[in-house]
Amino acid sequence: MRLLLPDLEAMQVLGSAIAVALQRGDVVALSGGLGAGKTTLARAVIAALGHQGEVPSPSFSIIETYDSDLLRIPLVHADFYRLNHPREADEIGLDDYRDGAALIAEWPENAGGFAHEAACLSIHLETADSGRIAIAQAGPDWLGREPWT
Ligand SMILES: Nc1ncnc2c1ncn2[C@@H]1O[C@H](COP(=O)(O)OP(=O)(O)O)[C@@H](O)[C@H]1O
Ligand SMILES: [Mg+2]
Repeated sequence: MRLLLPDLEAMQVLGSAIAVALQRGDVVALSGGLGAGKTTLARAVIAALGHQGEVPSPSFSIIETYDSDLLRIPLVHADFYRLNHPREADEIGLDDYRDGAALIAEWPENAGGFAHEAACLSIHLETADSGRIAIAQAGPDWLGREPWT
C-alpha cells in the first residue's frame, strides 16, 4: 500500500488510524533515512493513544515507555539507530519491555527486523516532492484492521 503524506496533518491522520487499530503485541516498524518522518509518525500514534505531554525522541535513550492509564494500551517507543548488532536488542531487554505492550520501532533493521512477526505493520517513509510517501505492508494479524481504507 502506497500512502501519500503531504504534510504534518496527514501524519496525524495516519498516526490516529494506527492508534485506533493498535493491539498489545503489535509492532509498527518505521524505516526510512534520517529526517524521513519516523519520529513524527510515532509521536502522532502515541498522542492518539492518549498520551499527554512531550514525546522525546528515543534516539539517545533507545527505549521510551508509555504505560500511564491515560493510554489505551501500553506502548514502547524504540529507536535502534545506535545499535551495532541485533543482539544488543536482546541485551537491553527488548522482550521484557515488549511484554503486554505494543512496540513502535525506528531503524527496525538494526534490531534484526520485525517483518517476520505476524503482528508487524511495516511502514517505510521517504521524502517526496510534496511531503512524504509511505510504503506500508501489514502482517497477517493486521488483516481487517489495516490503518487505511
Ligand atoms: N509528511 C510530512 N511532510 C512534511 N514534513 C514532514 C512530514 N513528516 C515529517 N516531517 C518533518 O520532517 C522532519 C524530520 O522528521 P522526524 O520525524 O524527526 O524524522 P526521523 O525520525 O525519520 O529522523 C521534521 O521536521 C518533521 O516536521
Ligand atoms: Mg527519529
